Amino acid sequence: MKPKVFVSRRIPQPGLDIVEKECEVKINPYDRVLTRGELIEGVKGIDGLLCLLTDTIDGEIMSVNTNLRIISNCAVGYNNIDVDEATKRKIMVTNTPGVLTDTTADLAWALLMSIARRIAESDKFTREGKFKGWAPMLFLGSDVHHSTLGIIGLGRIGQAIAKRARGFEMRILYTDVIRAPKEVEDELGAKFVSLDELLSSSDFVTIHAPLFPETHHLIGETELKKMKKTAYLINAARGPLVDEKALVQALQERWIAGAALDVYENEPDLAPGLSQLDNVVIVPHIGSASTATRERMATMAATNLVAGLKGEVPPNLVNKEVLD
Ligand code: GLV
Repeated sequence: MKPKVFVSRRIPQPGLDIVEKECEVKINPYDRVLTRGELIEGVKGIDGLLCLLTDTIDGEIMSVNTNLRIISNCAVGYNNIDVDEATKRKIMVTNTPGVLTDTTADLAWALLMSIARRIAESDKFTREGKFKGWAPMLFLGSDVHHSTLGIIGLGRIGQAIAKRARGFEMRILYTDVIRAPKEVEDELGAKFVSLDELLSSSDFVTIHAPLFPETHHLIGETELKKMKKTAYLINAARGPLVDEKALVQALQERWIAGAALDVYENEPDLAPGLSQLDNVVIVPHIGSASTATRERMATMAATNLVAGLKGEVPPNLVNKEVLD
């Protein structure tokens, strides 16, 4: 008897092929996030769940099915899953680290370049037929090269950002809960500083930290006020790391020069006023969205799921305590 699996939304085919070979698969038939009721229905009677960061998997969902053995998230971040609750119920939780590092760093870099050089604003201007020829004061922005970059969280993605920054000959500061080994700091040319020093010294502040209760609103009014008036904030990590309401005020009142965002506090909703601002670049959570990377994520999520269902230790198990 093949194990029963629910896939909460269609993922790239290479991932589905792996799951379909080994399991009896039910897939969300719609091209949208499931409602809570539909998710509850989907979870009934299955052995494994392959879900996405848009699905909230909490104790209530887990309690629907006491046979659930594994929750495979097709994302590196897993703040959408109540891992403690899963561990209590001996349910394995897995994620997809590593495969999306460079793709996400590329996107964060694209955001940084776009806000610094006003790409979105000037694209709109050009499309609207307003370009009447070169002008000495047209869309003056800020230099990226030789400026100071502040990286919050020097994990895999933060380090990939630092590597890119070296090409732009930037001064690189970082902060993290744990200081990186000296070899890593030396290789990246990154200097460890406090969050306060990073905020007050950086021209670009980019967030690459996971979302936990302790990192919720890591950047709020106080932190935004510590940034330089000429500085920019980039967030391609998780929306709730930033108090979005305070950010809108900061951008409206020019406490900082601008922000470039891939993620939002209440996705897919945006804080009131955000989309009316010129000094912001906003894209719809596409950090890992390259064809190749999404295929790798799907394959990894499927491999984790199948391994767990076969009684093996999945390669990317988040809650190793379930094995105790
Ligand atoms: C995307 O946001 C991810 O966590 O993989």
